[in-house]
Amino acid sequence: MAFVPNLEREIGLAAVAEDHRVGGSTPRFYIETYGCQMNFNDSEIIAAILTKHGYHPTEDFHLADLILLNTCSIRENAEQRVRARLGEFHAIKRRRPGLLIGVLGCMAERLKSKLLEEEHIVDLVIGPDAYRSLPALIAQAESGQKAINVLLSREETYADISPVRLASNGVNAFISIMRGCNNMCSFCVVPFTRGRERSRPPASILREARELFDLGYREVTLLGQNVDSYRWEDPATHTVVTFAQLLAQVAAISPKLRIRFSTSHPKDITDDVLFTMADHPNICRYIHLPVQSGSSAVLQRMFRNYDAEWYRRKVDRIREVLPDCALSTDIIVGFCGETEDDHQKTLEMMDYVRYHQAFMFRYSERPGTYAARHFADDVPDDVKARRLQEVIQLQNQHQLQRNREQIGKIHEVLVEGPSRRSANQLAGRNSQNQMIVFDAGQARKGEYVFVQVTGCTSATLLGTLSPTSTPSTN
Ligand code: SAH
Ligand code: SF4
Ligand code: F3S
Repeated sequence: MAFVPNLEREIGLAAVAEDHRVGGSTPRFYIETYGCQMNFNDSEIIAAILTKHGYHPTEDFHLADLILLNTCSIRENAEQRVRARLGEFHAIKRRRPGLLIGVLGCMAERLKSKLLEEEHIVDLVIGPDAYRSLPALIAQAESGQKAINVLLSREETYADISPVRLASNGVNAFISIMRGCNNMCSFCVVPFTRGRERSRPPASILREARELFDLGYREVTLLGQNVDSYRWEDPATHTVVTFAQLLAQVAAISPKLRIRFSTSHPKDITDDVLFTMADHPNICRYIHLPVQSGSSAVLQRMFRNYDAEWYRRKVDRIREVLPDCALSTDIIVGFCGETEDDHQKTLEMMDYVRYHQAFMFRYSERPGTYAARHFADDVPDDVKARRLQEVIQLQNQHQLQRNREQIGKIHEVLVEGPSRRSANQLAGRNSQNQMIVFDAGQARKGEYVFVQVTGCTSATLLGTLSPTSTPSTN
């Protein structure tokens, strides 16, 4: 439970805390983020709350008075990485007993007070809906008492908080438009760690997007576990704003602002969304449409609410309305009861769609989920590993083919900054989310340029600036 200190105590503590602060009179926090884009965006909300409370961010944990790990529980290895990281902080904590260490996010929510029992160096455990109580919990921890708040909320959307953009390139930014998830995919821990789905008021989303555009940002990604079920009802007028309407409103801010969104659940993405995309060239031609498996039997056990045939028809429909739209996916191999035949069906689905990008995982049983309680995790590790390799290999082939098809074509690219390899080259993405690297010329970060593709790898397109200002149709 949240602990609210009285003012006297807070003032007293501030004076004591001064002595051990490595950053001098200004306390510093270091935050490390694991997991999905929403979690990265949460870290920016956390940074905003801490900054308002007088803390400054640092990128060096040696300089921090407060180390925060914003964690993920989606697969077991995500949690293991955090446990290993906590192990590394033992020595620093021994040298500097005043240092506070907090575990935030999904692992905090899943493990609750167990985390304090199992990881002795942890002082703070805070779930995804409790970040507003950070200052109070820090005060409690500074007094030597471990602090925990893992209450989930049905309303919290942090709508009024302007995130402090961490490690930002000043061009792309995330905007969370909703929180939680009401689906109950049998393999997934998110409904337990993030709670019920709730949508953020559209006015606050539009305000944030406009502010970002005025600051020079040129691309926003609207985030939610299931963006197509975004729904806001005005409490006074009962007017409803759907995801398609929200998209149109954000797209109207400026034709120079690109809009992306993630994640679309195949069962929920509507024609309205597709038509809105078709009407607005600045809504990127890219949909992340996780299939999870190509086998209807497996999809049924996953509680995904669509089958392979239905998914194929959705892909056909997207291509009918948006012929140049790229699709990406998430795939889980080795889910409970997955046979060799099921696995082949996943490979066939990949051949059918030829995804532009894919995030591929082996199934990891998560305690408390429906699958953990009712199905045996019966695909042996070596079989999971082999199936994953096959899926990855096929995806690489598809990406390489898709990239080769672009050679000679001209793309409009939003410049994001220098390429990783060379300071003389810039990198940016086309509307389909493909990364393109090209010689810098006069181009600047945040500008739109036209680039002719001259070569590629399976991950990246290579090109040269083009004087033409008409992109090729894909
Ligand atoms: N809301 C998104 C997914 C969020 S989690 C959606 O519905 O598509 C991101 C991805 O992690 C999922 O799409 C799934 O492919 C993967 N994932 C989730 N739980 C998993 C588990 N127990 N084991 C392996 N991968 C998992
Ligand atoms: Fe998890 Fe399914 Fe919700 Fe995605 S839609 S977060 S996979 S329960
Ligand atoms: Fe991980 Fe939580 Fe995101 S479990 S994937 S950080 S919602």
